[in-house]
Amino acid sequence: MKKRILITGSNGLLGQKLVDLLTQKPGIDLVATARGANRLPNSDGYRYESMDITNRQQVLDVVGETKPDVIIHTAAMTNVDQCESEKDACWAQNVRAVEYLVEASRINSTFLVHVSTDFIFDGASGPYTEEADANPISFYGWSKYAAEKAVIHSGIKWAIARTVLVYGIAHDMSRTNIILWVKKSLEDGKTIKVVTDQWRTPTLAEDLALGCWLIADQEAEGIFNISGKDFLTPYEMAMQTADFFQLDKSLITQADSSTFSQPARRPPRTGFVLDKPRRVLGYEPKSFEEGIAVLAAQL
Ligand SMILES: NC(=O)c1ccc[n+]([C@@H]2O[C@H](COP(=O)([O-])OP(=O)(O)OC[C@H]3O[C@@H](n4cnc5c(N)ncnc54)[C@H](OP(=O)(O)O)[C@@H]3O)[C@@H](O)[C@H]2O)c1
Repeated sequence: MKKRILITGSNGLLGQKLVDLLTQKPGIDLVATARGANRLPNSDGYRYESMDITNRQQVLDVVGETKPDVIIHTAAMTNVDQCESEKDACWAQNVRAVEYLVEASRINSTFLVHVSTDFIFDGASGPYTEEADANPISFYGWSKYAAEKAVIHSGIKWAIARTVLVYGIAHDMSRTNIILWVKKSLEDGKTIKVVTDQWRTPTLAEDLALGCWLIADQEAEGIFNISGKDFLTPYEMAMQTADFFQLDKSLITQADSSTFSQPARRPPRTGFVLDKPRRVLGYEPKSFEEGIAVLAAQL
């Protein structure tokens, strides 16, 4: 029998990569959901339902009608500075919506895969294992941490896929990413300042989709770190991008994060240890250099 998987936020970066991946997998009956209309260019191979995750009745109705075996919950308010200035909206999208999905999962005996973030940590001691203690330093981080607790204490079958700085190309995206920003700036001959005092394990969106699929396929319970494997500063990411596209690295200058004023604080040193997803799921992400090549092939 086919496994029915429902994904939330299918218009987003991860959502789009999941639609691409899961429509290619045999044995999957895919239900894609997002706020408003489907913005994906291709509507073959899956069913689309409009679902605003902040609308409890809509969530209960759509999940009740489609009865998925697994929900992969990707939708969220992901703009960290916007979460800091619009706290009510952030809480509604990142926490209360998760409570509705938990309720719907409980009623329909659905396995819930919730996507979370390295921003639940304070960034004092990365890279982190799944067991590290959370201590968010931004409202976005607090909201995602509260959502994790709602999932963990739900009594349903659940998994949490935590990820870090996701990059990739998707259809109709307003947001850019570090690779495209560095490439465009250097091609235009612009000098850029890039920070040397933050560390991340940047994640190719295709790898994150793969990790979510491995969890869903195995219905593996618990918390899983699903990120890239290279532990890099944004400055190092910029230098690797310049190398890959053979652009002028002298335009990249080193900066300290205190140079930039942003509404939300960023954790300095996050990044993930990947021992558990490798051992339990067989997850193996690409290197950052390989990730740039995947992205470049889609330009
Ligand atoms: N991107 C990163 O660097 C990063 C890092 C760590 C963790 N994460 C986590 O990874 C997950 C996926 O992020 P992403 O990069 O794919 O983000 P994204 O591209 O911003 O996609 C998020 C999607 O959520 C949708 N959404 C927001 N509110 C909604 C609502 N009320 N109902 C239905 N859909 C709603 C958005 O819809 P619209 O398009 O209509 O606005 C958007 O398409 C999120 O849970 C995020 O917290 C991301």
